[in-house]
Amino acid sequence: MKFHDPHAIAFLNASAVTAGYVVLFFLPVFALEPALLARFITYIVMVAGGAILFAGTYFFFRYTVDKFIYSKIRLIYKSIYSIKAQKTDRQRFRSNRNILDNVEQEVAHWGEEKQKEIERLKQLEEYRKDFIGNVSHELKTPLFNVQGYVSTLLEGGLDDPSINKEYLRRTEISVERLIKIVEDLGEIAQLESGQIYLNKVRFDIVAVTREVVEMLEIKAHEKEVQVIINQPDKPVWVHADRDKIRQVLTNIIDNTLRYGLDQGGRTKISFFDMDENILVEVTDNGIAIDQEDLPRVFERFYRTSRGREISSKGKGLGLAIVKHIIEAHQQTINVRSTVGVGTTFGFTLRKA
Ligand SMILES: Nc1ncnc2c1ncn2[C@@H]1O[C@H](COP(=O)(O)OP(=O)(O)OP(=O)(O)O)[C@@H](O)[C@H]1O
Ligand SMILES: [Mg+2]
Repeated sequence: MKFHDPHAIAFLNASAVTAGYVVLFFLPVFALEPALLARFITYIVMVAGGAILFAGTYFFFRYTVDKFIYSKIRLIYKSIYSIKAQKTDRQRFRSNRNILDNVEQEVAHWGEEKQKEIERLKQLEEYRKDFIGNVSHELKTPLFNVQGYVSTLLEGGLDDPSINKEYLRRTEISVERLIKIVEDLGEIAQLESGQIYLNKVRFDIVAVTREVVEMLEIKAHEKEVQVIINQPDKPVWVHADRDKIRQVLTNIIDNTLRYGLDQGGRTKISFFDMDENILVEVTDNGIAIDQEDLPRVFERFYRTSRGREISSKGKGLGLAIVKHIIEAHQQTINVRSTVGVGTTFGFTLRKA
């Protein structure tokens, strides 16, 4: 029995009062030595009185201590949960023998939870700061370019046939890039807030891959990269959002062209049956990704230094979108890469 237990407090007090009663009333009766019958009746009355006194004292203390603890705990509960303690809670507290231990544990648990929440909010704040920093940094370059070209044109360049058309064309490229960044950011924000509607249908992933490869054919031809689909005529049925998966394939295959070898590049797309899922793998023999960069390529705006050197067009948003799309399908995406050999991106899709 713990001494801070309301039951123990009531029990000890009741025992003390009853002991006092025994000393005060029983002993004089002994001392007076009345007749046997009178003594017997007196004993009965005294024992009954003692029992009633014990029970009365016990319940009085139990009630008072419970009430006191309840009033204190109600305040604690109110402040940690910001709620109004219900009347029924009192019953719950009273029937609970280890009420103080429980409150101690609950308060400690609440403290831990709050600490975690603070950490999470700090992380979110960091994330938000990074995000704003990244966005303004990415928007700055094309905006300054537009400003530079427009100023030059206004300051007389418009009448100079050697630059006027060229500067307008460059302005258009920068504006297109701005639009693309804003569109990609909008898409990421939508994906991150979980507001994504997937229109899942049964379709042939090989056919969609063929469409993507055809769409990128000119670019592949310019870069002299050979794009091969493994078993292009054998359908592989999956259950997913067709347009979103086309977007995934477009970015991954486009990356193999962008970060592939200028000549002699080779991109291969293969499909593997994995019981419930289909694994799609896109392999290239391009510039590769260093091991320390691998876990970061799916972050927004993250670009490797070799990637930046080889292409100024990248925004570092494609793979972030890809990862969100695959995760929204409750599937996985991974990447492996070896410098001097190339890179493989693999993602799974539900088989249909
Ligand atoms: N196949 C690849 N080989 C080598 N590096 C790659 C490959 N794919 C991606 N990367 C690296 O990962 C980075 C992030 O790729 P991601 O697709 O997110 O952005 P991006 O292609 O640069 O721009 P965009 O937003 O237009 O897609 C690239 O900048 C590049 O450094
Ligand atoms: Mg990309």
